Amino acid sequence: MFFERPDNGELAILVHLDIRSEAEGDAREFEELAISAGACPVALISGSRQHISPRYFVGTGKLEEILQAVKLHEAEVVLFNHSLTSSQERNLEEELQCRVLDRTDLILDIFAQRARSYEGKLQVELAQLKHSMTRLIKGWTHLDRQKGGIGLRGAGETQLEIDQRLIGVRIKSINKSLEKVRTQRQQGRKARKKAEVPTVSLVGYTNAGKSSLFNALTKADIYAADQLFATLDSTLRKVQLPDFGTAILADTVGFIRDLPHQLVEAFRATLEETTEASLLLHVIDCHSEQRFILQEEVDNVLKEIGAEKIPTLMVYNKADLLDAELPGLERDDNGLPWRVWVSALTGAGMDNLLQAISELLGEDFIEPELKLDPQHGRLRAKLYRQGAVKNESLDEEGKSHLSLRLQKQDFIRLLKEEGLDAQLYLP
Ligand code: GTP
Repeated sequence: MFFERPDNGELAILVHLDIRSEAEGDAREFEELAISAGACPVALISGSRQHISPRYFVGTGKLEEILQAVKLHEAEVVLFNHSLTSSQERNLEEELQCRVLDRTDLILDIFAQRARSYEGKLQVELAQLKHSMTRLIKGWTHLDRQKGGIGLRGAGETQLEIDQRLIGVRIKSINKSLEKVRTQRQQGRKARKKAEVPTVSLVGYTNAGKSSLFNALTKADIYAADQLFATLDSTLRKVQLPDFGTAILADTVGFIRDLPHQLVEAFRATLEETTEASLLLHVIDCHSEQRFILQEEVDNVLKEIGAEKIPTLMVYNKADLLDAELPGLERDDNGLPWRVWVSALTGAGMDNLLQAISELLGEDFIEPELKLDPQHGRLRAKLYRQGAVKNESLDEEGKSHLSLRLQKQDFIRLLKEEGLDAQLYLP
């Protein structure tokens, strides 16, 4: 299969073989991954293989087919939608006389291009270093013995050993920095919890439109592109919700099928954020033919990280691409919002979305009226800190009349701390 000749980018041959018992995603997704990495796919070599050749991964016939394609298109890189061993990569590079990358290399490359925050960059570098540890041998076919030098650990150390040692040092230092950033983030999260500002996390398969929705909801200008993995690290913004107040919206990295294990580990921090959210918005590209499979895969990952108990609103995005009449907002048996149809692009359905979020977050909220004597200044201050005061007026006796909005358990707790019985004020 050949693609139209692109104008720029590295010319790439894609290799995607259906291997029994290995669900590696389909060729279309692989093509998108390649484009996301900045490559220009010029041909797709496909086929099926029952067994993997230890030397080249593919059999000799397929290898010849790839070689012909490389020559014909003057390709600069061959991308495999599979995991290759370092020796397979090396053997293939020798035979094909061009660079060869496997699926992990490709995803790492995309991550490296997209990382924006300090933490995101550290995580990518860590994943890259760990991956390159297993591949070091690739660049050093003759393994020259190095002469000893100042600062080098003794004569006779091989270049490979030096590289491994240097990488080991760097990995240690990155882990230290990551630990520090994580602690800071934990503290930030604690502060948010204390202030009772709920967090709403956008989750979903990559390219579902999370960043676009995040932008539409916060009017922020984060990077949205028709590329996979446009969002690498969680981005937090404040949103004002109608009938609710302030919430924090968190955009997270897109899920992907068969994410190499070392990457799942590297992006744990981003996923961790998700497990502490008050509400998840599971964004789904309703136009995608694979939406059911993708939805299930995201659910599985959420289960794995322990986020399955968090209330979730299904957000069917890209509704503008459907011809059908849309149901708007659908509710479950308890009358709570369950599914909402929106278009981040046109803004259609955004009012329903905001309404649904407010309702789900505001489920335990109450709106009591409170009359406080001047000696209860401390309680009044706490209520203000909590962001619970909607309105206040003073009467002629100097008492404050407060109109409040806060979670029931907070109201009971705060009044108890001041020796007051909240039940007297509850409807
Ligand atoms: P990752 O960051 O890779 O996880 O992707 P994402 O889920 O954040 O997707 P993003 O917002 O980057 O959108 C992906 C592509 O879908 C972009 O080309 C958007 O312009 C497009 N898109 C997003 N929302 C809509 C929509 O409502 N309608 C249409 N037609 N396209 C949309």
